Amino acid sequence: MEESATLRIGSENYNFPLIKGTESEIAVDLRTLRSESSCITFDDGYGNTGSCESKVTFIDGEKGILRYRGYPIEQLAEKSNFLESAFALLYGELPSENQLNSFRKKISDNAGLRENMAKGLHSFAPDAHPMAVLSAMVNNLGTYHPEKSTNDRKRDLEAFDDTAALLISAIRTIAARDYRNRKGLAPIPSDPSLGYCADFLQMTFGDSNNPQPPPQKVCEALNLVFLLHADHEQNCSTSTCRMVASGGANVFASVSAAIGALWGPLHGGANMAVIKMLKDIHDSGDDGSRFIEDAKNGKKRLMGFGHRVYKNYDPRAKILNVACNDALEELGVSSPILDIARHLEEVALSDEYFIQRKLYPNVDFYSGILLEAIGFPLNMFTVIFAIGRLPGWLSHWKEIAESGSKIHRPRQVYQGATVRDYVSIEER
Ligand code: SDX
Repeated sequence: MEESATLRIGSENYNFPLIKGTESEIAVDLRTLRSESSCITFDDGYGNTGSCESKVTFIDGEKGILRYRGYPIEQLAEKSNFLESAFALLYGELPSENQLNSFRKKISDNAGLRENMAKGLHSFAPDAHPMAVLSAMVNNLGTYHPEKSTNDRKRDLEAFDDTAALLISAIRTIAARDYRNRKGLAPIPSDPSLGYCADFLQMTFGDSNNPQPPPQKVCEALNLVFLLHADHEQNCSTSTCRMVASGGANVFASVSAAIGALWGPLHGGANMAVIKMLKDIHDSGDDGSRFIEDAKNGKKRLMGFGHRVYKNYDPRAKILNVACNDALEELGVSSPILDIARHLEEVALSDEYFIQRKLYPNVDFYSGILLEAIGFPLNMFTVIFAIGRLPGWLSHWKEIAESGSKIHRPRQVYQGATVRDYVSIEER
């Protein structure tokens, strides 16, 4: 294999070194392209552009492979849990028992919200979207911890372990409080004797007069949803987090920006869109066949299908498909929209339109059905995605901060007006 790539522009040849990843991916190192040739590359949407070298997560979209720090998602889903996998993402290795216990303790010690912050939850419009609230409240949390949000990279890195535990814990409290405020319910404080998911479910859905730990199977289903969403290399929201971090901004600002990016219906907002789509199909009496035709002629988009990277079945969707079954059975919940989802999948996977475009179910296709069965309202689905993805964002913030990376600043191809003189208003 050649150790360099040659690019011919006009009559000139330019040679660029190759970078080889540990999974034998090859990248052409074009960092000197502009200085040598005064040309730049153009890659709308960055589908062919490596923005960084990273050790956090590996995806092979053609083979449907996903690994956190080298551990296959299938093994983590079967043998690990959300906090243990979060530790591996943050620190590179699975924790020892002592490390995991102190990580858990640090998280359960940080679940409380300052009263003024809790009051801040009432400052939003009554029908504010929970993702707008979450993004704002994460930055708000940072204002109560100025020693963790200094925008001095060295100091923010020194505080990172505490900041990570604080955010992983408090994001649940913010989400739970916001949910109960909307319902006019009194808040339920965190119960440190409960596990991460059980505590979140109790803070959200608990009966303040008679607090009961949630069913074990529900906790396990939510744990799996969080684990499967924990990271996904340079996706839209994680790249946003890295972009903001590259400017030296603190963890809270970077995570708040990532939450904004995740909100989009083509990204984390897809799980809500999937349920809306399935319910519309169900209510219209269609078994999904009509909808598939509309998707094929571009009138509709089959939400939960397709992916920028996976051109094979999203391994997370496979796992969630099975978990959906088990959890619904355990919860004694029948879901007519699950039957429609299964029918859509069956029809789409045998249809030339989807096969030719390599469109398969992605993580959002089944996650919404599970979240609805657990009892979350539709407008909280992307909040649940954000709680799951938080360890990934934090891991990438840390990686950028430790790497001393330059500020991210892409170039452009200018297609606007060429130079012209100012015209006074009288002459316009
Ligand atoms: C997530 O990046 C990540 O890792 C994201 C994520 C993560 O964990 O962070 O995995 C989470 O965001 C999953 C994706 C959730 N979004 C959706 O489910 C929304 C529905 N999916 C599509 O909007 C779409 O598939 C994207 C946005 C996900 C990917 O779009 P691409 O790769 O840019 O594909 P494209 O838009 O260029 O489409 C290629 C062709 C087009 O048809 P032609 O113009 O070639 O005729 O496929 C068609 C598209 O019209 N197409 C679809 C389709 N997705 C693509 N047609 C119908 N239904 C779809 N869902």
